[in-house]
Amino acid sequence: MIEQTLVLLKPDALQRSLIGRIIQRIEQKGLKIVGLKMLSLSKEICKEHYSHLLSKPFYPSLEKFMTSGPIIAMVVEGPAAVEIMRQLCGPTDGKKAPAGTIRGDFSISTQFNVIHASDSLQTAKIEIKRFFKPEEIFEWKKTLEDFTFSTEEA
Ligand code: PPS
Repeated sequence: MIEQTLVLLKPDALQRSLIGRIIQRIEQKGLKIVGLKMLSLSKEICKEHYSHLLSKPFYPSLEKFMTSGPIIAMVVEGPAAVEIMRQLCGPTDGKKAPAGTIRGDFSISTQFNVIHASDSLQTAKIEIKRFFKPEEIFEWKKTLEDFTFSTEEA
């Protein structure tokens, strides 16, 4: 099933000039970027996005970090995109994330862990709406779309 998921490149990814290397991993896996923007996360949207963490002792630090500089928001599309993006990211804690995952290769922290990806299809739908208007998400043909999207089902 073709899914869409929300991906955020966190302020540390931009500060460390990792945008290109992270996007390359997403694209080389075969997933398609159908929406992309740079923005500053407001405290209000940060609170909404991490509402399930507001009571955690680390929330103030997380908010300070996430609003400290620009982020990149993307809508990523493909078969099982939600699960595949989570696999590409690896576990939250960069110290425990296996080598070969984005966090495993670029992070040694639970806070400065360079990337966020929606944790379920239901969450993805809510998170995409939080960051993108419908007209900011594009339908376009990928040159190898037939190959990339149909190998499993063929
Ligand atoms: S939790 O506590 O189980 O809900 O945490 P988890 O799902 O692993 O992580 C949720 C997001 O919170 C961030 N996080 C932290 N930030 C700062 N300090 C600490 N200690 C910390 N622990 C978790 C973590 O980066 C996750 O961000 P997202 O954007 O969801 O990946």
